[in-house]
Amino acid sequence: MEKIFLKKDLGKSLEEYDFPGLKNALKMEPQKVINKMKESGLRGRGGAGFPTGIKWETVLSIKDDTKFIICNADEGEPGTFKDRFLLENLPFKVLEGIIISGYATGSKYGYIYIRGEYVEAIKIVKKAIEKLYEKNILGENILNSDFSFDLKLVRGAGAYVCGDETSLINSIEGDRGKSRIKPPLPVFEGLYGKPTVVNNVETLAAAAEIMNYDNNPYSEMGTEKSRGTKLVSISGDVNKPGVYEVEFGKLTVRDIVQELAGGVKGEKIGFVIPGGISTEVLTEEELDVPYTYENLQKMGSNIGSGGMIVVSSQRNYLEIVKNVSDFFRDETCGTCFPCREGNKNISKIVSDIYKRGYPTSKDIEIISDIQYAVSSAARCGFGESSLNLILSLFEKFYTKKVEV
Ligand code: NAI
Repeated sequence: MEKIFLKKDLGKSLEEYDFPGLKNALKMEPQKVINKMKESGLRGRGGAGFPTGIKWETVLSIKDDTKFIICNADEGEPGTFKDRFLLENLPFKVLEGIIISGYATGSKYGYIYIRGEYVEAIKIVKKAIEKLYEKNILGENILNSDFSFDLKLVRGAGAYVCGDETSLINSIEGDRGKSRIKPPLPVFEGLYGKPTVVNNVETLAAAAEIMNYDNNPYSEMGTEKSRGTKLVSISGDVNKPGVYEVEFGKLTVRDIVQELAGGVKGEKIGFVIPGGISTEVLTEEELDVPYTYENLQKMGSNIGSGGMIVVSSQRNYLEIVKNVSDFFRDETCGTCFPCREGNKNISKIVSDIYKRGYPTSKDIEIISDIQYAVSSAARCGFGESSLNLILSLFEKFYTKKVEV
């Protein structure tokens, strides 16, 4: 098996790619496909890390003629561009994963919801879907099997919150992109009230890869709780920004920055945002941690969407905090009060801090209080995580400097 899991088919055209994962899946009972996913230990790569096999099994277990698969390609998390890489470079593998997921769960309809700004990816995927219909890999009786599956592409309209699965579902239904209260989870009541799997692009590409093999090499990579590999997109103050595939547990966060991304551009690393701006920062001293879900959680952070942003010590950290708080103020869908008002107030407080040049202990106390209210009362992941970065940065860098 190739060491670099998702990249080995890079550059292949449809003619060269023969959908080995789908062919294998179609020879098996749906439950067997799901068992393989469960054995692989694959967890959702959008950020939350929920076990893929369990999600699929829930939808398979529900008896309903209409079920849906949605590929969430609304990759909006600043610093995250690994899904764009997959859509542009391995569209067939992503689509293969969607079709396999449809087969495994007994769903005949799929949607791929792509971020509107991803103009190139949209063009590529649109063409790929047309080709798959021509080749009978989509449509009626796929590859002469009993399984039929239709797939539509939907273009997002520029709202970050539509990356939240419930807002995305509203958006596909033609409603405003605003979150829904969970429960019910989409697996029970999703698109048009029907059982729906919502999976991230990378998750589905990995699922297609897992189905390639008779054995389960994916489960042998990584650690007990973090199996396989992860695409990490690295940006910020590094010499070689880009998308890198890492086996869980093999490299530390520092190795990823130093060895893969060519090290810091600037004097030294100030801090690293490990998983997009919804995750807590790691200081320079905290980087020697092997990259896994469990390790980053132990550090009080998260691998999130794998959008790693490196910040040099020469930057004005408060400028970053201001950018982040303005972003969340502008992008909240405004449906629930704590998230809308909380993020608006934080942005005002941060703006004052930025002008002053440092936060006071009172500022940090107020921000902590607001974070508690927003994260515990908001409807969706947006409000749960919008203050993680800001508060962690203040706690790690500014507590000594503040006036009491
Ligand atoms: P969540 O923890 O609520 O759910 C994760 C997934 O598991 C969802 O699809 C949910 O429906 C499913 N699920 C949960 N319990 C289940 C059960 N018992 N049975 C079946 N399915 C179940 O997290 P959420 O709100 O979907 O995502 C939050 C994450 O998104 C954050 O960790 C953040 O890092 C990430 N994020 C990613 C972005 C990106 O661009 N990729 C943008 C912003 C945030």
